[in-house]
Amino acid sequence: MGKVAVAFASAAVVAACSVAAVMVRRRVKSRRKWRTVVEILKEFEEGCDAPVGRLRQVVDAMAVEMHAGLASEGGSKLKMLLTYVHDLPNGTEKGTYYALHLGGTYFRILRVHLGGERSYLDVQDVERHPIPSHLMNSTSEVLFNFLASSLERFIQKEGNESNSQGVIRELAFTFSFPVKHTCISSGVLIKWTKGFEISEMVGKDIAECLQGALNRRGLDIHVAALVNDTVGALSLGYYHDPDTVVTVVFGTGSNACYLERTDAIIKCQGLLTTSGSMVVNMEWGNFWSSHLPRTAYDIDLDAESSNPNDMGFEKMIAGLYLGDIVRRVILRMSQESDIFGPSSSVFSQPYVLRTNSVSAMHEDDTPELQEVARILRDLGLSDVPLKVRKLMVKICDVVTRRAGRLAAAGIAGILKKIGRDGGGGITSGRSRGEMQMQRRTVVGVEGGLYMNYTMFREYMEEALVEILGEEVSQYVVVKAMEDGSSIGSALLVASSLQS
Ligand code: BGC
Repeated sequence: MGKVAVAFASAAVVAACSVAAVMVRRRVKSRRKWRTVVEILKEFEEGCDAPVGRLRQVVDAMAVEMHAGLASEGGSKLKMLLTYVHDLPNGTEKGTYYALHLGGTYFRILRVHLGGERSYLDVQDVERHPIPSHLMNSTSEVLFNFLASSLERFIQKEGNESNSQGVIRELAFTFSFPVKHTCISSGVLIKWTKGFEISEMVGKDIAECLQGALNRRGLDIHVAALVNDTVGALSLGYYHDPDTVVTVVFGTGSNACYLERTDAIIKCQGLLTTSGSMVVNMEWGNFWSSHLPRTAYDIDLDAESSNPNDMGFEKMIAGLYLGDIVRRVILRMSQESDIFGPSSSVFSQPYVLRTNSVSAMHEDDTPELQEVARILRDLGLSDVPLKVRKLMVKICDVVTRRAGRLAAAGIAGILKKIGRDGGGGITSGRSRGEMQMQRRTVVGVEGGLYMNYTMFREYMEEALVEILGEEVSQYVVVKAMEDGSSIGSALLVASSLQS
């Protein structure tokens, strides 16, 4: 070999070696980044861990807080609000009633015809629309004018058939926010939740605001009841099955209500009702306990929300927030490594990842996770490798598993308070000291998160059995209810006007 050839050969060897060295360096770097991501995931997973022992502590805390909230006004973060609903619909109701439901993401209007027998419940017309986002931080005038005009259009569409005698239409206003009631048909807004921020409405009578807007339009509609969505759902649940004593909503927000004995509502002594009981709106979204597995991501989410230091439980289990917890974990991962590539800045945008995308990614059963790839592409992230897509699914799983398990602990807490958990229960602060005879207990559940996110539902139901044990679980029936809160509120108007 000539000198020139030798020089070329050694230059080629040097070049090949440096290319190899660069590649090795890159591989080492990328392995290091992946290790960082795995460590973040591990730390997050440990932070979210909710083994059954911990869930039982949450169950106990829920039952104790319920008791404290019933004992005195402000005695607990659980408001345990009186609803003045003591007689639930029993199937004998008759007539045509309307419901307007302002939820967290949608509003619905419907008309129900009742024929005086349980089997004769005819939901004649239902409209469901997304709430225009500008309304959430507008003014009370804008909000109520919008609701009144939507109702006006609904009624115009029905022509004269359903109201040929020109009688006043009786309406239930299902209002999915915390209200302090003075009677079933009126109450003032305590605070907004779920991102709504119309501060001048806090302290105002909500039914009066709606009635005013309806009157200004000359509509013959009477706001006969102001109903929390959980309470509406309980009414429908009870109408179909009188063993229904608890209902829970898992939607944009979360809450529960249940039937309580009036003598256990100590903060309102002398409360007399014909049935001896009253539905209590727990507003459980505000529940807090040091046993809840809280991570740094939850703390940041809370601090940056429109209602910091408020609704801590809701922020761990409800639809509005699950997507944003996932987003925060991904953001940290992409800040500490570049596994999502240059477009990952999209994850700096609050609430850019919605819970319905989380559920679609989590339940993606295609071998190559094509649904995950599609959702990431829609967010501007193309060609995300399979192993990163798998990582996404894992994060969704951790967040939703924790949510489902905590939701189950919440339900078991209520069952414990009313003595339907197979133990002694808690009554007025003292334990009964004896095992309760187990009775069939129906827990009605509604809300988009529960209805549309199978994995959430499965984690919740699995954890409920773990907490209660197989034997007691046989007596606890969890029943899904679609549109229960709106239909049930209309039923409640019927029963309250008839009683
Ligand atoms: C509200 C509750 C409501 C729940 C479910 C919460 O944010 O405070 O009143 O029942 O969402 O819609």
